[in-house]
Amino acid sequence: MFPSEADYQRAVDLLLAGELVGMPTETVYGLGADAANPAAVARIFAAKGRPADHPLIVHLAGHDAVDYWAEQVPDVAWELMENFWPGPLTLILKKQAWVPDAVTGGQDTVGLRVPGHPVALELLRRFAAAKSKHAGIAAPSANRFGRISPTTAVHVAEELGERVPLILDGGACKVGIESTIVDCSRGEPVVLRPGHILPVHLEAVFGRVPAIITAAGAPRVSGSLEAHYAPTTPLRMVAGERLLDFINAQRHRGGRCAVISANQPPQAGMPHAWRLMPADPVGYAHDLYAALRDMDHAGVELIVVEALPADPEWAAVADRLRRAVAGAGQG
Ligand code: TXA
Ligand code: MG
Repeated sequence: MFPSEADYQRAVDLLLAGELVGMPTETVYGLGADAANPAAVARIFAAKGRPADHPLIVHLAGHDAVDYWAEQVPDVAWELMENFWPGPLTLILKKQAWVPDAVTGGQDTVGLRVPGHPVALELLRRFAAAKSKHAGIAAPSANRFGRISPTTAVHVAEELGERVPLILDGGACKVGIESTIVDCSRGEPVVLRPGHILPVHLEAVFGRVPAIITAAGAPRVSGSLEAHYAPTTPLRMVAGERLLDFINAQRHRGGRCAVISANQPPQAGMPHAWRLMPADPVGYAHDLYAALRDMDHAGVELIVVEALPADPEWAAVADRLRRAVAGAGQG
């Protein structure tokens, strides 16, 4: 399953030629292009159908490339890199003047991440060896704009098909939801997107829990648009204690629904499309997008999701589901 020598070679050749490559990371699959080549980056936006003023994350092979892309990197950012890279953490930093607007959406900052996936790292190292030692791969999640992020190579092919000439298969993504984004470019670090790395983990580095500023106030973070990560089937959150009644009522009305629940196993007479999720937030995150995708293909009129606990450990999953609800049913 993992890429062969020839696959890596082809991926590097495509990147050098300004073409796109689908690549696995530990969070979700990315749609990669040479981050220093504006024409290549423009291809990403075209393939996704994404507005061109949305900034992209630049993936690097290691910390030593950071100064090439970013300037005035504060100490706290270096500490975060030491603690969490390679891994599911993106840092927003002041950009170097040369960094193309195509990557930053015209902002004065750039998002950087060293991903914790062996295939991504191998590709980044080989690309850097072939191009220049600081080379980076700009990669948003490899889905069409607003849709569910892909966590397998098959999902990428479903999303983008012919639009991407090569997809490297690195298996199912371990984390399953996008990286935590921390903005270190304006003094006190703030979280722009919750993820697998939680505020409590960041607290161990900062000495306090960082503020979380999503949506309003954040500069064009597409994951912070209200509607995102969305299936084409309408989606509805229902409290656990009301779940069975709600589903029964739907069935009496003749409505076909699918169910995603972490606590309630299916019972006799219940809908056939029923996904029992792991009851812990890490396991749930891992399965979330695949579950949404499966249920979206189940031929139902409504996807019912059991509401999640309000604890902080569930914040990242709850964030993705809230946006999925806002965007669902529009396809
Ligand atoms: O886990 C991830 O982060 C995945 C994998 C492929 O690395 N990538 C990902 O990319 O989720 P994307 O483009 O779908 O989401 C990246 C987010 C966007 O919401 C984007 O607006 C934000 O990062 N971002 C990138 N650069 C930024 C910047 N300079 N300032 C603020 N937000 C930025
Ligand atoms: Mg995305």
